[in-house]
Amino acid sequence: MIRTQLTLSVNNREHEVWVRNDRTLLDVLHDDLGMPDVRYGCAEGVCGTCTVLLDGEPVSACTMYAVQAEGHEVVTLRGWSDPREDPHPLQKRFLERGASQCGFCTAGVLLTAATLAQRNPTATRDEIRYELVGNLCRCTGYQAIVDAVEDYLRTPTEQAAEKGEAP
Ligand code: FES
Ligand code: FES
Repeated sequence: MIRTQLTLSVNNREHEVWVRNDRTLLDVLHDDLGMPDVRYGCAEGVCGTCTVLLDGEPVSACTMYAVQAEGHEVVTLRGWSDPREDPHPLQKRFLERGASQCGFCTAGVLLTAATLAQRNPTATRDEIRYELVGNLCRCTGYQAIVDAVEDYLRTPTEQAAEKGEAP
């Protein structure tokens, strides 16, 4: 199999890697770059546990080859909310609502929900559910997740602070 040298921009850092052309972005982020916040679930584009942001859009990292990510900005959960700092307000809402139990799905759910909040800050519960349809959760029954996202959307001061705007 042909190997290609790539420069991948992940969480504002450039990584030089040699990859086999059939390696997915998930393979390279998780296995080669050692990023446990990008998780293997189904590995076939169904569960959403491997969600990352590609140029600000949520994508399943298992459904694209790593070579396709060159020239794009990849952000993982840790790049979106650094665990060494305060949790993101959306994460706080998840904690308050018990919207994360085993946590396996949570990285993907958070990144998808955060994108929804930017795109559609007045989303209804149905719209929240629709947006999260590609992020499967085995634990919560989804109610607590939708509650947490709704709490965040209904707290405009937190969203304004995230954007660096005056509340
Ligand atoms: S592991 Fe990528 S969608 Fe399931
Ligand atoms: S919290 Fe366990 S799969 Fe979602």
